[in-house]
Amino acid sequence: MNTVSIGVITMDGPAGVGKSTLARRLADALGIAYLDTGAMYRTLGLRLGAEAADMDDATLRARCAECRFTLENRGGGQPVLCCCGEPVGMEIRTEKAGRLASVVAKLPVLRGELQKAQRAIGAECSLVAEGRDMGTKVFPFARHKFFLDARAEVRAKRRYLELEARGALNGATLEEIQAGIEERDLQDRNRPVDPLRPAPDAHIVDTSDLDIDGVLRVLIDAVAAAQPAEDPLRPAGTARSQVPVPPECIHLFGGGRPGHDLLTEARLAGLSAARRLAHPGGIPEEIASGLSCGLEGRGTLFFAECPVPQGAEGARTALAAVQSAAACVALSFPEGAPREIAASIR
Ligand code: DC
Repeated sequence: MNTVSIGVITMDGPAGVGKSTLARRLADALGIAYLDTGAMYRTLGLRLGAEAADMDDATLRARCAECRFTLENRGGGQPVLCCCGEPVGMEIRTEKAGRLASVVAKLPVLRGELQKAQRAIGAECSLVAEGRDMGTKVFPFARHKFFLDARAEVRAKRRYLELEARGALNGATLEEIQAGIEERDLQDRNRPVDPLRPAPDAHIVDTSDLDIDGVLRVLIDAVAAAQPAEDPLRPAGTARSQVPVPPECIHLFGGGRPGHDLLTEARLAGLSAARRLAHPGGIPEEIASGLSCGLEGRGTLFFAECPVPQGAEGARTALAAVQSAAACVALSFPEGAPREIAASIR
């Protein structure tokens, strides 16, 4: 398995199902990184507070941008989740942080910002990404997707024992903990943005009657079974860039006439950027055959898209290809025509 890049493994599921322990253990077993996306929501919950719900979009976006998340190697063991270079610590493991996290997790702007940060981290290295929307929204192209579930009473019992072991019960009863878990489930499953649900291609694992080692075995076996013998150059996502096309520039696309087609020119510009970056390895096959340029929205938007080859280099090359294609188009517009290029990896 070591000669093949694992890419992203997504692990979603409701509160108290043992996702964190399992995601961390799975990452350890496979020698890849672990990304706890709940910790990112908890950090923003604590930093921004419940007032985040009343902020206008621009303010909220700016406040999110103040918190730059990275996975950093701090010597020995797993890379550590950091916010602005500082490790995220136990301060987020409180009931208050959990409550604030579920408040801010309902805000579409904040979710969008965190999802971008999560994809950027996933483009850098193989990892187990744990959360609620990893397989459905953040990494829809992940090769391995798991959705862990367990009966509510089993999850409540596990949470009770865990809090008791940490001396953090604070007088809570098992019934209260179960009620809290059921309430949070209801919120997570029914919220309008990115509700908790399994991706259609997720492997659903019911952990109710298994211990941690039993579940871990199921996960490792599933990863091994789905892992190809050699890297099939399977894409790790799609890179896309776009430029708005003003009505007076549509003629530049030549209506598809050979030799007059800005779409062909844009594609060639993208390929040549990828070739420059990929030198001396040669242009990756996904980009050579998969880079496509087109117009959508009745000619109001130019887009360039290509699959992202596995690995950090692949992401960089794919982005350069689609950005150069879009730049070729934008630079063909006359002075004064809009030139803003949006580029991202999904
Ligand atoms: O897994 P956790 O308890 O640390 O998550 C904290 C909150 O963040 C919880 O309300 C669910 C939310 N969350 C989310 O909406 N999407 C994620 N990818 C991860 C967590």
